Amino acid sequence: MAVRGQFSNRLGFIMAAAGSAVGLGNIWKFPFEVGQGGGAVFVVMYLIFCFLLCLPVMVTEIAIGRKTQRNPVGAFNALGYKKWNFVGKLGIISGILILSFYNVVAAWAFGYVFEMVMGNFDIGNHFTAYTSDIFKISIYAVVFMVATAYIVSQGVSKGIERATKIMMPTLIVIILFLVIYSLTKEGSLEGLKFYFQPDFSEINGKVIYGALGQAFFSLSLGMGALITYGSYFSKKDNITTSASIITLMDVGIALIAGLMMFPFVSFMVHNNPQLISSLIESKADVAAIVAANPGMSNLEIFLLPEAGNSGAGLIFATLPTAFESMGAFGNVLGAIFFLLLSFAALTSTVSLLEVPVAYVVDEKGYKRSRAVWLMAGIIFLIGIPSMLSGGYSAFFSDFITYYHAEKSTGFLSFISDTASDTFLPLGGFLITVFAAYVWKKENLQAELAIGAPGFEGSLVSKYISFAVTVLCPLILGLIFVLTVLGKFFGVEVFG
Ligand code: PHE
Repeated sequence: MAVRGQFSNRLGFIMAAAGSAVGLGNIWKFPFEVGQGGGAVFVVMYLIFCFLLCLPVMVTEIAIGRKTQRNPVGAFNALGYKKWNFVGKLGIISGILILSFYNVVAAWAFGYVFEMVMGNFDIGNHFTAYTSDIFKISIYAVVFMVATAYIVSQGVSKGIERATKIMMPTLIVIILFLVIYSLTKEGSLEGLKFYFQPDFSEINGKVIYGALGQAFFSLSLGMGALITYGSYFSKKDNITTSASIITLMDVGIALIAGLMMFPFVSFMVHNNPQLISSLIESKADVAAIVAANPGMSNLEIFLLPEAGNSGAGLIFATLPTAFESMGAFGNVLGAIFFLLLSFAALTSTVSLLEVPVAYVVDEKGYKRSRAVWLMAGIIFLIGIPSMLSGGYSAFFSDFITYYHAEKSTGFLSFISDTASDTFLPLGGFLITVFAAYVWKKENLQAELAIGAPGFEGSLVSKYISFAVTVLCPLILGLIFVLTVLGKFFGVEVFG
C-alpha cells in the first residue's frame, strides 16, 4: 500500500481542519440563514448546536480516523465492522455531491473578483444573467476545480497543509479589515441591532433544523471529512482541545462574517431609502406586513423573507450595490471581499476532494495524482447540471417541485437540500450510534485519552460520553426526520 501522508504538527492539522470548516458556509450561507431565520434567535440556536451537539460528533470523527489511519470506508473495516462501512460510503457520496455544487458557487464568487475590479456593480441586478452565462461560469469552474486538484495532488503536508497555512491567516486579516471598515459606515448600528437582539417569538421548527443543518455543514461534519483529516493526525496530540479550537475558529469566523454583512446591508438601505418604498409598492405581502407592524425598521423590511433579499442572493445580488455606494474604493473593497470568499471556499473544496481521493488511494491502491485528477474530473461532470441550473437550462433551473411547495427548486439547491441538509445530519446520527453502541464508548474514550493527559475521568470526557450515547443520536435522529418531512413533504411538525 502507498505510504500515507501526515500533518507535520498540531498547528498544521488545526489549520487544515479549520480551513475545511470555514468556507462558503460561513461567509455566504450563514448571514443569509440568519437573515431568513429571524436574526439573533438563529444565532443563539446555532451556537448551542455547535458546542453541545456538533463538537462531540467532531471529536468522534477525528478519533475514528486517527485510530484506524484510514479513509471513511476503510476506517469501519479496520475497526472490524465491515457491515457499517455503508456509513463511510454515504459520507463519500455526500462529499462528491457537495463538492459538485460547491464548486459552482465558488466559481460564481471567483468570477465576481473580476467583475468588481472592473467596477461592474450593476451585476447584482443581473445575477441570473451572470449565472446563466455558461461560457464564463464554466471557465471559472474549471479553474477552481483545477486549483483544488493541484493542491490535493501535492499531498497532505506539502499540499493541503501548506496551502491552508497561507490562506487561513490571510483570510482572517481580510475579514477583520472589512469588519472594521463596515462598522465605520453610517447606519451600520442598525445592522448590529438586527444581528444581536434575539426575538424568541420567532423560534419555530424551520429555525431549529435550519440552525442544525447549518452547524453540520459549516463544521464539515457527518461525511467523514474529519475521519479523513483525523487519519493524518499524530497520536501525540490532543483531539478534544484541537476540535475545540477548530469549532471556535469556525464559529468565530461565521459570527464575524455577520458582523461585516449586516452593517454593509444596513448602510446600503440607509443610503437608498427609495429602495424600501419601491419594495413596498412592488410586493403586496411586504406591504401587508409593514402595515401590520408599524415599528419595523427599513433594514428589517428589506430583509423580510417575503422581500426576497435575505436569501442566497444576499451576497451576490445585494453586496455589489453596497460596494458601489462606498465611493472611490468600492471596486477594490469588492474585489478583496470576493477574493476572501474564494480563498475560504478553496480550503473547503480541498477537504471535500480529499475524502474520495483518500478512499481510492487506500482501498483501490491508486497513486495519489491519478486518484486526484480522476475524481476531480468525475465530480466536475456531476456538477454540470448544477451549473446549468443557474438559469441557462429551464429544465435544471426548475428541476423539481417538492410536495406542497409553491415554487420549484433548481438542481443545485436540490443537491444541497439532499446531500448537505439531509445526509449530513443522518451521517452524524449513524456515526454517533456506531461509536457509542457498536465500537463502544470505552474504545472512543481510550482513543481520546491518547495525547491528552488529564482527560480520563474529566468533566469533558463525561460530557462527551453522554452526548455521544444519548444526546446526539436522539436529537440528530429527530432532526433528520423533521428535515425530511419539512423540506420534501411540506410537513411542519412544530408550527
Ligand atoms: N464547511 C464547509 C463550509 O462551511 C463546507 C464543507 C462541508 C466542507 C462538508 C467539507 C465537508 O463552507
